[in-house]
Amino acid sequence: MTDTNAAWGGRFAEATDAFVAEFTASIRFDQRLYRHDIQGSIAHATMLAEVGVLTADERSAIVDGLLAVQDDIKEGRLEWSVALEDVHMNVEAALTAKIGSVGKKLHTGRSRNDQVATDIRLYLRESIDLLAQELTRLQQGLITLAEQEADTIMPGFTHLQSAQPVTFGHHLLAWNEMLQRDFERLQDCRKRVNILPLGAAALAGTTFPIDRARTAELLGFDRPTENSLDSVSDRDFAIEFTHCAALTMMHLSRMSEELVLWTSAQFNFIDLPDRFCTGSSIMPQKKNPDVPELVRGKSGRVYGHLMSLLTLMKSQPLAYNKDNQEDKEPLFDTIDTLGGSLRAFADMVPHLQARKDVMREAALRGYSTATDLADYLVKKGMPFRDAHEVVGKSVAYGLEQSKDLSELTLEELQRFSDTVAEDVFDVLTLDGSVSARDHFGGTAPNQVRAAAQRAGKRLADRT
Ligand code: ARG
Repeated sequence: MTDTNAAWGGRFAEATDAFVAEFTASIRFDQRLYRHDIQGSIAHATMLAEVGVLTADERSAIVDGLLAVQDDIKEGRLEWSVALEDVHMNVEAALTAKIGSVGKKLHTGRSRNDQVATDIRLYLRESIDLLAQELTRLQQGLITLAEQEADTIMPGFTHLQSAQPVTFGHHLLAWNEMLQRDFERLQDCRKRVNILPLGAAALAGTTFPIDRARTAELLGFDRPTENSLDSVSDRDFAIEFTHCAALTMMHLSRMSEELVLWTSAQFNFIDLPDRFCTGSSIMPQKKNPDVPELVRGKSGRVYGHLMSLLTLMKSQPLAYNKDNQEDKEPLFDTIDTLGGSLRAFADMVPHLQARKDVMREAALRGYSTATDLADYLVKKGMPFRDAHEVVGKSVAYGLEQSKDLSELTLEELQRFSDTVAEDVFDVLTLDGSVSARDHFGGTAPNQVRAAAQRAGKRLADRT
């Protein structure tokens, strides 16, 4: 007798080549699904007993056995076997070793094809919920800080050139809006993850009288999938999740970039606590913003995983193909990378220290109230294009004199237009400029406080 595979070796005349066994096995990376695999199996066995395919005693033996296997794995007592290929067959073999041949009945009316699709969905659903918690924690930190910094003035940028003064709180709430959309996308994605493929069996369904709605209910899925062929083959839900994750990483990379700039000696807007930074082994003065830099870098690997998964799925004929085993490493690394990045950001954000004086000083330079001067002239009756011209000339003069617009005298300003009067200085100050943008979505401190309130309420409504 040749020693062929215990689970499917019946029709084989020789054992699997040793390297092929190693090459095709997924146990190295799919072992992290063990809890979800066992959860799915318990629901499956329970449903089988309810429809009369298993006896109540068989079900109890299987459930108790699975829970004991779960303990063994948790405590590191189970040795994963490459010969058993994957987590599904490792768990099943451990079950049978524990409870005897009744363990072999567990796989009735199912296939690893619908089993693995179920496990991934269970795992991803749990991961989405954990990621959503971290996102919420980060958003909470941003909103709290935004409230504290509602009056803090900094330069707002376009083209990374000083444009108009804004409040730091307004800037932080812009970050929060990005994350709010990320949260909503994740919740929407969850709806398509939370559907039960089990019952599709290998591809065509099963001859046993299964009750898929019951299995769905037992596992907390919204409903069973509609079509068995589709159920075992498509990984679009994993691709969709990775796309959501890529967008969130993109947003985190934008925040990271600003933090890296702002902590530099040249900007000096922000101080990061030492515990989020590292030093240099050669330059004693260095304090590097490693967390934002790393998060910025890690966005690249998540984009890569999105491309891997799209390419993995492309052109696959129905139904299950072994290609799909390659879904796990990109998906798991996406979850880990996003989770770690969100956690680091959520821990760090409440400790960002704004250097208000430096921000204010920077806003004073760069003629950031030039638009306010133009709006002032328009309100006094001048067409906007003419006002633009007058202000342009005033800025050019200020540059020559090394003076900000608010530092020019009334006489100097009047050289360019006699429309200018004493009240011009109300709009040329930074505080006047931000307070004047007093509408829904604007940067005026009272608007920022109201926006922070609304954002906080949205978070409170989540649970
Ligand atoms: N390890 C496999 C995977 O991850 C499980 C499904 C295998 N199915 C099969 N017919 N070989 O996709």
